[in-house]
Order: sequence, then structure tokens, then C-alpha cells
Amino acid sequence: MLRTHTCGELTLSHKNQSVTLTGWVQRSRDLGGMTFIDLRDRYGLTQLVFNMETDAALCLEARKLGREFVISASGVVSERSNKNPKMATGDIEITVQHFEILNESKTPPFTIEDNTDGGDELRMKYRYLDLRRSVVRDNLLLRHRMGIETRNYLNDQGFIEVETPVLIKSTPEGARDFVVPSRMNEGQFYALPQSPQTFKQLLMVSGFDKYFQIVKCFRDEDLRADRQPEFTQIDCEMSFITQEDILNTFEGLTKYLFKKVKEVDIQTFPRMSFADAMKYYGNDKPDIRFGMKFVELNELVKGHDFKVFDEAELVVGINAPGCAVYTRKQLDALTDFVKRPQHGAAGLVYVRYQEDGTLKSSVDKFYTEQELKRWAEAFDAKPGDLMLILAGTTAKAHKALSELRLEMGNQLGLRNPDVFAPLWVVDFPLLEWDEETARYYAMHHPFTSPKPEDIALLDSDPGKVRANAYDIVINGVEVGGGSIRIHNRDLQKKMFTLLGFTDEDAQAQFGFLMNAFEYGAPPHGGIAFGFDRMCSLFGGSDSIRDYIAFPKNNSGRDVMIDSPAPIKQEQLDELKLIVNLPKQL
Ligand code: AMO
Repeated sequence: MLRTHTCGELTLSHKNQSVTLTGWVQRSRDLGGMTFIDLRDRYGLTQLVFNMETDAALCLEARKLGREFVISASGVVSERSNKNPKMATGDIEITVQHFEILNESKTPPFTIEDNTDGGDELRMKYRYLDLRRSVVRDNLLLRHRMGIETRNYLNDQGFIEVETPVLIKSTPEGARDFVVPSRMNEGQFYALPQSPQTFKQLLMVSGFDKYFQIVKCFRDEDLRADRQPEFTQIDCEMSFITQEDILNTFEGLTKYLFKKVKEVDIQTFPRMSFADAMKYYGNDKPDIRFGMKFVELNELVKGHDFKVFDEAELVVGINAPGCAVYTRKQLDALTDFVKRPQHGAAGLVYVRYQEDGTLKSSVDKFYTEQELKRWAEAFDAKPGDLMLILAGTTAKAHKALSELRLEMGNQLGLRNPDVFAPLWVVDFPLLEWDEETARYYAMHHPFTSPKPEDIALLDSDPGKVRANAYDIVINGVEVGGGSIRIHNRDLQKKMFTLLGFTDEDAQAQFGFLMNAFEYGAPPHGGIAFGFDRMCSLFGGSDSIRDYIAFPKNNSGRDVMIDSPAPIKQEQLDELKLIVNLPKQL
């Protein structure tokens, strides 16, 4: 090794030892008689000191070192007179006797320190430099630990990791596929897996019993902070199990990761039906770190000549504790918030439960104080509280109020990133009706089993059928989802029919799976966790990009390698592809 120690490990216990360190020059300061250099590597920072009085030539040479030069420095560990308690190595410095430049560096395009002056785009372009910053590096170290601990837990539970192919045929998970043309099979394409769903089911037919894989998945969908076109799943499948076994096994994994990686004990892991999640939180991934549950008011508010409420399918509100003091301006801001196009409400009704016990609302014209009192009782509101009420179609009211609830949670400081509140959302509907295309879609995916007690409804009222499907939600983030699968050829065929596949289509696309079901498919089920989302949740960030070494930007581009990019005409010819190139290319 070129070094005896790393830049993160020396303390007073090494005092007077001769050491050699290697790393990057983060910063250098000349203080007349002394020159100080902070040397950085993956493990930390160590201060190097050069003394003009004892070795003027060496000190002058050191002054020529630029930022991000790679050097090796040998010297003696000395006690600092001016200790820095914020640094792991802050008690010591290295009095350098000799150093060597291992490589020079151009001046980096932004400062490579915790607080950088580089904007997002610039740091993405030079991601390899951004990764030198301790904050970014620590995110990847967290990811590494999460991966190792996941493997430890699943291995201890008897799971085996099996790799599945990346060049496959389309699996319908709801997004578009990325496709790869095949040179050897003219006019034909592979699809990159949106998940290894069908392969893991086939492994169950093969008898592998407990499978997992930390695996890249690819989905061509609109990007957001919690979505990347290529992302990683902890993908799992088990045979001869019930839904209960899966929930227990993966509740176990979640608790284990929190304990091992964050030293957090998860005390409760509630389960909530999809129906209750929608009714009380307005969405299927409730943040249950705080209350403010929805209260439905249809019975209390209809028939008072207030058209907005009379005409609404649903009138629903939340009670914001202690917010009666909100000013007109703050209330207007909340109204603007719910009216944003992405939240979609037409307006917001408020009722202040004032400290003196009187009630003041924006609909005083239509409702007496006595009536408002009854609303307050429904909300279980106390003097000092503020009731916020929305009306509209059920879907719209749910959407807007769930956004408002989260916003109030933010404003009241109830969404502490150091508090973790996981839950299972269970009993999802099997199918979702789409007005536009006038057909059913699988809510999870087409391989999900209906609840046995609902199978009879498949013919009479398919929209009412519930699935043995579950999501794991933490702090309002859907971190994973799965289901018990269909393992019977006839039922699987029926599902494809309900989803609008002709027999020929179903056979062409999924014949391999249905055929496999004829050779002794065991009852099975599984789950996949969004690994990037788990990492960002553990790290306390909303953006999964921070936990991916080389992520794509919001347009799906890697600005560092400048991809996607056109390919050469020869490559197109070889693939027999004809591409209409846009003019600017
Ligand atoms: P699902 O589609 O719910 O299930 O995906 C599982 C989890 O993967 C994460 N995820 C994503 N993370 C980042 N970027 C994306 N574009 C993205 N899309 C999904 C989410 C999600 O909960 N085959 C099934 C699993 C099963 O049934 O076993 C599946 O893929 O956290």
C-alpha cells in the first residue's frame, strides 16, 4: 500500500508515530510561517502542516499544491494546539517531512466540500467529483450497508439470490418498456424488465421456494423525485405461504434494517385496509406519523342552500389543532394551495373554533353557530382548532384534502424525518376501471390473486373484487408492494380475459407462464421493495437521486456521459432500423 493509514483514523493514540497518508488536497491555507492542508480520502480529512522555519523548501513546494491534487505525505503525528472537536481527526495533525505529487488536477468546477457552490446540473455533469463530497459519499455508504444487511437477513431466513435476465420480453407492470433491438433477429426487440415478476414466479415452479434478488428494473415513465427510469428493487418470492407469512417475513426485514442501520426500534406495524386508507387519509399511502384524519360531513352539511356542499358527492375535512389563530392571509394561502392545478380543489371552507368557544366560519351565511358546533363535535375539535373542509367528487376531494393534510403536517412540524411510522395497506381492489379506455386494468399486476371469498364476484361485479395484495408504506412513501399470485392456469386465463386480452394475445405474451402452471405450480406470493426509496427514507431525503451513484436527471438524461445519444448510421444499418432524426441532431 502507498499509505500506512487513512485520512479518517489517526487520533492522539498515534502521537509521535511516523505515518504516510494519501488523498486529495481539499483546501490549503498559508498563515505566514505555516501552511496547512486538509487532505481528504474516503474515510475523512486530516490536517497536514508545513513549517517555514523547520523546512522552508518543503513549505514553499507545498504552497504550490492546487485543490484536488493527489498526493502522498509522510510525517509525524503531532498533537494540535488548536483542536477541532468537529473533526474525527481534530486532535492531531501531521507534521510533514516529505510529500510526493501522485497526480495533478485541474481546478475543479465547484468546491468539493460539504457546502458546495456547484448547482445541480454542474454537479451532475461532474458526478465523479460530487461523489468525493462526504455528504454524497455517505449516502452511498448507507446504500451499501442497506444492501449488505438485506442480504444478511434474507440469507439467514433461507432465501437464495438468483439472477434473472435483463434482455427479456415485456412484463406488464403499468409503465412503458425500454426496448433493445436484436441484430440477430431482424425487426425484433427485447424489452428490459420492469421487474423480474414472471421469472421469480417461474423459479417458484422450479421449486426454489424462497428467492430474492437486489435487481435493476427499468420503466419508461414520467420522472419525479422518487422515480428513476432505472432503479433497484429488493425482489422476493416465496412458496407454500399465506399473505400473513409474507407480511411477517418482510415486517421482520424492515425492523431488522431499522435496527441495524439506524438503531431505531420499530414498535408498531399497523395494517390498514385500502378502503380505510382512502376514507381516512384520502390516499393509499398514508403518512401516519400524525393524526388529522378525514371526517366526512355529508349528513351534517347538506340541505342548507349552500350549493357547493349540496351538489358535492363528498364533503370532507380535517381538524388542524391549534390553528384557529391562522390569519386571513394564511387561510388565503391554504386556499391557493388546494386550488393549484395539481391538487384540483375549487375552494376551501374553514371554521375557526375560537379560544372563547365561539365558532367563526367562511360559510356563516348558511349555517348557524349551533350547526357549526355539531360539525366541531364530529371533528372532535377543541377551542383553538381550525377545521378545513373541501367538497367535490370523492376522488377530487380525497386528492386535494390529502395534499392539504400533508401540508398542514409540514406547517405544524408533525413530519419529523427522524420518526418512522411504517404500515401495511392491505385488501387492494383487484381491478381499476379506466373511463378513457373503458376497460379494467390490474391494480397491482395481472398475476395477482383475487381473495378466494371474492372469486364469485369476478363474473358479476369485477370492480368489487378485492385482491390478496399489499403495500408497505413508511412516512407516506410507498416503499414496496406485492401480492399472493394466481397459480392456476384457468384462473390466470380468466384474469387475462377480464383485462381485455384475447386468448391468442394472452397465449402469445404469457403462454410460457400459463404453460408452466400446468406442471405443478405451488401456491406462491411475494413482494418487491423499492431499494432506492428505502435508502432515501433511511437517509432522510425526498430524492432517490441522492442515493444512486450515477442517476439520470428529470428528463431521463445522464448529463455526465451525455446519454441517450444518437447512434452511428452503421449501427442503425446493422440493426436494420430506420430512424427519422430530428433536425437539431
Ligand atoms: P411495484 O411496481 O409496486 O411492484 O414496484 C415495487 C416498488 O418499486 C419501487 N418503484 C420505483 N422506485 C424508483 N423508481 C421507479 N420508477 C419505481 N417504480 C417502482 C416502489 C414500489 O413500491 N413485481 C412487483 C412486485 C411484486 O408483486 O412482487 C412490482 O414491481 O417503491
